[in-house]
Amino acid sequence: MWSSSTSYDISFIFIAILLLLLARYLWHIPAYRATMKRFLDKAKSAVHSHDGSHDGGSGFPAQHQQQQQQPMQTDQPSSLQPPTPADVTRYRYHHGTNLGSVFILEKWLTNHMFPPGAPGSSELAAAEAWVKNEGLDAARARFEKHWRDYVSDSDLDWLRDVAKCTTVRLPIGYFTLGPPYCEGTAFKHVSGVYANAWVAVKQLVARCHQRGIGVLIDMHGLPGGANAQEHSGTNSGKAEFWASRGNRDLACRALCFVAHQARGMEGVAGIQLVNEAEGGAKGMYDWYDTALAELAKVDASMPVYVSDAWNLTKAAGWSQGKNALLSRDVNPVVIDTHLYWCFSDADKAKSPPQITDEVRSKLAALDGKDGNIVDHGAAQAVVGEYSCVLAEATWSQGHGTPKEQLVRDFGNAQSQRYQQRAGGSFFWTYRMNWMPGGEWGFKQMTEAHAITAPQALTLTDVGERVRHAQGQQQELRGNAVGAHVGYWDQNHPGQYEHWRFEQGWDVGFSDAAGFFGMRGQGGLPGGDKIGMLDLWVLKRLRESGQAGRFVWEFEQGLRQGVGDFYRSVGV
Ligand SMILES: *[C@@H]1O[C@H](CO)[C@@H](O)[C@H](O)[C@H]1NC(C)=O
Repeated sequence: MWSSSTSYDISFIFIAILLLLLARYLWHIPAYRATMKRFLDKAKSAVHSHDGSHDGGSGFPAQHQQQQQQPMQTDQPSSLQPPTPADVTRYRYHHGTNLGSVFILEKWLTNHMFPPGAPGSSELAAAEAWVKNEGLDAARARFEKHWRDYVSDSDLDWLRDVAKCTTVRLPIGYFTLGPPYCEGTAFKHVSGVYANAWVAVKQLVARCHQRGIGVLIDMHGLPGGANAQEHSGTNSGKAEFWASRGNRDLACRALCFVAHQARGMEGVAGIQLVNEAEGGAKGMYDWYDTALAELAKVDASMPVYVSDAWNLTKAAGWSQGKNALLSRDVNPVVIDTHLYWCFSDADKAKSPPQITDEVRSKLAALDGKDGNIVDHGAAQAVVGEYSCVLAEATWSQGHGTPKEQLVRDFGNAQSQRYQQRAGGSFFWTYRMNWMPGGEWGFKQMTEAHAITAPQALTLTDVGERVRHAQGQQQELRGNAVGAHVGYWDQNHPGQYEHWRFEQGWDVGFSDAAGFFGMRGQGGLPGGDKIGMLDLWVLKRLRESGQAGRFVWEFEQGLRQGVGDFYRSVGV
């Protein structure tokens, strides 16, 4: 060992001397010298921006400057346009509910779709039982009727008018896409039932869109099952998706089909890759990478939702890389997290007020991950499922407070917290055979004022408020710019590009106004807020073409312009 490492050292020194001699020789060749000099200048400027002037307690850690050393050093042409209706559909706060057990049946919600004695409680069990009982054609007609009628027009009107829903989450399965996607899967022998299922999805999306309601298309059932539950589509009790190459590839093809179709559909708010991936699912993030790469080729503008597999901290951290300012050709990535307090033994041991208190600090996993895209990318979460259900053991610890009151406190805390900290929330669920659904029912919980719509959606004087804000705009802008410039120039004197802050503020203020006024243009009361703010800021930063060391001033201005608009209209 001794002798070989010594000879290694000696030969290393020898090679180094040779290289030095070679460099000395090359220095006399002008072209080489020019290249070398450019390289040295670049290295120098990198060092300089590390002693940058916005350090120490200013909220701009060192990573930020490192990111600035990557390609985009100079401003590119801006492609900013006013927010479109599709932007609002995708980036507003999603106040919504799931439409569960329409395209993926669950017996506890839709018992009538299971013939007496059906051996199972899942979609597959129902399809098999009806095909056996009444033949393929009758079974297909039965399912088609369910897809068409189970959520009626008056249901959708109620969602729009009373609940003030902006968006619904619509669970589907890979089998919903029809027989070609059932080859080699558990649904092969009943695939004929699904010949017209995708058309039915499109019709439901269109009926929602007619009412100004967007749809998150949620690939809830993946081949093999991404979790072991019946809501994956079968009663296999196994999660066989992750370890099967064939299943993962089929799911990618299915998702690309949906993404292709969505390009020609109005009202699609996003596409979700998978529902409730089992905790610690092996290879999950690799599969997310693969699926995202494929989807970006189809339409990189569509928000793509992924499951956090019950670990929001980890998922949010991963998503920041996807949602980095300099990432290109990748869809905006949203984390779907589910919050229930009725299942675990630990939660059953708690009292209702204890749980309500916990709600108020939920989603803390996002703290320090969102709010600053230039430094570390965007982190955006929605609560894709939640309810007002608590275990009997919990309700019984109410100490005499009427259950109605406890339910309302719990629901109010959830609505408040999610509106403050998430890009949207979707109750589980709207439709069941036992309407209005108790604490599982969006209808009952909305009518009991346990679940509440964002205040902005309930306003009847949006136009007036917008005019008031526009009257204040110049003064607000002056104050914001003055405070920004004053703070940096006094506390951290140095070179800045404060005009970027001004431009950002203008974009933020008018974007917020654009979102807020869009419903009125469609004849709907209320105003939308930019709920998916981190992803919206990311989109605007990319479109602005802003670059260089001071792009953070644009981001700060943008966020402040949005905030100033909301303060001005009082939401
Ligand atoms: C979630 O992920 C984080 C970060 O990877 C890890 O430190 C933590 O232990 C995980 N939590 C659970 C409950 O698995």
